[in-house]
Amino acid sequence: MKNIQEKIEKLKAELLEYSSKYYSENISVISDIEFDTKLKELEKLEEEFPEFKQMDSPTHTVGGIASNKFKKVAHKYPMKSLSNTYSISEVVQFNQRVSKSIKKFNLAYILELKLDGLSIALHYEEGKLVQALTRGDGEIGEDVTDNIREIASIPQKLSQNFTGEIRGEIVLPISEFKRINENRAKMGEVEFANPRNAASGTLRQHDSKVVKERQLDGYFYFLQSPENYYISTHLESIAYIEKLGLKTTGYFAKCTTLQELENTINKYEKLSKKLNFETDGLVIKLNECGLYEQLGTTAKSPRWAIAYKFPAQKETTRLLAVTFQVGRTGVITPVAELEEVLLSGSRVKRASLHNFSEIKRKDIRIGDRVVVEKAAEIIPQVVSSIVGSRSGDELKIVRPVHCPSCNSKLVEKGMALICMNRQCFEKVKQQITYFASRSALNIEGLGEKIVEVLLTHKIVTTLSELYDLESKKSQLMELDGFGKKRVNSLLENIEKSKKISVSKFIYSLGISFVGSVTADILEDSFHTVEAIRSKSVEELLAVNGIGVQTAQSIFDYFRDEHCQIELEELLSKGFQFTEKTYTEVGDSFFYGKKILITGSFEEFKRDDLKEIIKSLGAQNVASISKNTDILLVGNEPGSKLEKAQNYGIMIMTESEFKLKLTEMRK
Ligand code: IVH
Repeated sequence: MKNIQEKIEKLKAELLEYSSKYYSENISVISDIEFDTKLKELEKLEEEFPEFKQMDSPTHTVGGIASNKFKKVAHKYPMKSLSNTYSISEVVQFNQRVSKSIKKFNLAYILELKLDGLSIALHYEEGKLVQALTRGDGEIGEDVTDNIREIASIPQKLSQNFTGEIRGEIVLPISEFKRINENRAKMGEVEFANPRNAASGTLRQHDSKVVKERQLDGYFYFLQSPENYYISTHLESIAYIEKLGLKTTGYFAKCTTLQELENTINKYEKLSKKLNFETDGLVIKLNECGLYEQLGTTAKSPRWAIAYKFPAQKETTRLLAVTFQVGRTGVITPVAELEEVLLSGSRVKRASLHNFSEIKRKDIRIGDRVVVEKAAEIIPQVVSSIVGSRSGDELKIVRPVHCPSCNSKLVEKGMALICMNRQCFEKVKQQITYFASRSALNIEGLGEKIVEVLLTHKIVTTLSELYDLESKKSQLMELDGFGKKRVNSLLENIEKSKKISVSKFIYSLGISFVGSVTADILEDSFHTVEAIRSKSVEELLAVNGIGVQTAQSIFDYFRDEHCQIELEELLSKGFQFTEKTYTEVGDSFFYGKKILITGSFEEFKRDDLKEIIKSLGAQNVASISKNTDILLVGNEPGSKLEKAQNYGIMIMTESEFKLKLTEMRK
């Protein structure tokens, strides 16, 4: 291993040079993605080796939040963001929450476009522009007034003697983005990934002339403290903003019924594709501003507005190769290596292929043109291949015979390929990393990189050996980057991890199908590790929330000879089990809900879905009634969908369901 400190210094120097070239000289030495990758690498190293982190690190100073170039100014009112929804049913819930909270019904909402740019707060005094602040971290922004003055559509002087704050978004028109990138390509410079990045790079220019050249634009959508101007509705605010001489998108639709809202959402979604600026969704705001204070805000966002994000964007690209990853349970996952493509605002080079049955079902071949999809927070995935555009040279994806990490022969279990070697480097690395991760035993300072070092030097070869590190202290201190301070803190954190709840301990073992919800259910039902490990499949199945697959997996784990030895070893290290804190299951979105499944699903088998539903503490029901909470719809849902709509039951699609699961795991 390279000397960690040296590596950190090198990354720091590189990043500082790139960002200084980028921000002050407008030269992109590397692509945005490469820059981000290096920045993330540095962040990770600094997290693992906090003693090497210094205030001058680019992780403090670049990356969009707080560059040192502009004066930092505290916002008079924090700039919050918006919480997201992805479906009409979530919008319905939002309306219900608002109505319940203010005890008013038949409310009017304004639907508008959500611009994908940079938020800006303009301060005017007696009609004159005095300050323009970026969002920054929401509390403190950057003073970019000089650059904002170069934007032609933002008046320095308003038509009236206005004193106050107006917020909006700075965007780069798509036509401008294309023009700039064409020029950059001609000059051999790295192109901007998307208009948003280009706008951000431009606004952070030292040289205001560059801003002028680049034709940035500003659209405004929020007047701070409208009551100061005798304004009581959002629509009036917009009219006032326009009257002052600032630009708005011009698309603000008042909706008084859910049907109207749904129709306008569809209309605006179509419209958004025809505009010369990027949008990433819509915003729904309560029209009556007088109610905003009563509704208040959460730490992150106001309760009187919500964003409606557009569904996942799909793109086509070429599948260049398939690589194979080894997971902690030894399962081999195929990963698509793609020709880079711009997807939902970011460049994508790798995507999940899930498993071999998916590859077979979708008939994906190397060299194919493939459709890739990425919903807002989800990992990109290959949806399908375009068979019609094959040349005949495409290659079938061959299942590997040997493990890419340890080269041992892989074993087929159903459609999965598994590395059975207990000593497989990658597998053990993933197991220990998972065991120490934040949602498991939370051993600070024991990230993937450190685990790799410990395994490479054979200082640790199994989970339980982590707890023998005290006796290998001198060996540890000889390693590069392992100073006395760092070793002591690591040992302390490992020791601390022995005080843990039964559910966290069970979760940390990494048993297949046992996530945090199931681990909680196990602790609630059986209380001790001893009791959990002694249960039969039948006893496990009798627990509400544990399905066949999960029960079998738990049972098999505790019967496996090797796992038994490992567990005994671990338990001999003196764990002190504490009571779990009763939050997760009860807090889960699905907890206690009655869910009905209908139609056919792309990714989930029905039985698996039922198990997931159970494991979330929800109930899977067989027929629809007014008491049903959620209808989970697949393809061709049939008459149940209509019934659910009539009953006003929440309707959730497969992708919405997946998204919720992902959000819950965070
Ligand atoms: S209202 C207090 N309206 O989206 C609420 N925001 O994801 C203020 N955005 O930080 C936000 N278009 O930068 C609002 N029509 C619009 C918007 C909009 C884009 C941005 C804004 C905000 C972010 C939240």
